[in-house]
Amino acid sequence: MTRLLRIDASARSEDSVSRQIADYFAARFSVAPGNAIAIRDLVTAPIPHIANVTIKGYYTPTDQLSVPMKAATALSDLLIHELREADVLLISTPMYNFSIPSALKAWIDQIVRIGQTFSYDGKSFTGMLPGKRAVVVVAYGAGGYTNGGGFAAANFVEPYLRFLLNFLGIADVTFISIEQTTADHATIEANKRKAIAAVDAWFAGPAFARAG
Ligand SMILES: Cc1cc2nc3c(=O)[nH]c(=O)nc-3n(C[C@H](O)[C@H](O)[C@H](O)COP(=O)(O)O)c2cc1C
Repeated sequence: MTRLLRIDASARSEDSVSRQIADYFAARFSVAPGNAIAIRDLVTAPIPHIANVTIKGYYTPTDQLSVPMKAATALSDLLIHELREADVLLISTPMYNFSIPSALKAWIDQIVRIGQTFSYDGKSFTGMLPGKRAVVVVAYGAGGYTNGGGFAAANFVEPYLRFLLNFLGIADVTFISIEQTTADHATIEANKRKAIAAVDAWFAGPAFARAG
């Protein structure tokens, strides 16, 4: 069985292009018998920001956690458990103001946790989530952010998420981009078709075959 954890971050619902492409990915994934999908919609069920007591909890050994620290880190425990269970992580996100939506950042701040998803030995960091694969669907209103385009320097979505996932030990990361989602209908449809083809290529490639 292969388990997918799907994380959705667009504030839009049915009109969200990133969600539409993620829907297609999830539909393809669920075709294989026994494959399971867990969904975290960061907009319909927002993740709270971490607080002072959450951070104290992160840096306190488990057997020394106070009752408030346990309460403040319980959601982080659950979200990390969901991540550990997954073989494939699917993130769908828009670009908002050249970066990721705050809803996604709130989730990241709950799952990037010392001793749980990364370790530090005083010299170097080691990701603790090896062997997983990630697919990140990113929708951009304008164009030129990808493939060395003229706006590539303003793309703080893809380099950030790639670095972050690598930091956690997830080396196999595929980005599927849909640019110009605010363009005319024909352009949007053409770009959606390209994104769908990229999803198909992912399923046809060795990455999915390895999952069995
Ligand atoms: C608050 C906000 C900020 C945005 N910032 C950018 C931006 O910096 N660059 C860009 O190209 N598009 C930007 N857009 C457009 C979205 O990236 C685009 O509409 C995208 O398709 C949204 O993803 P979705 O279709 O999954 O909802 C922004 C949209 C919103 C609502």
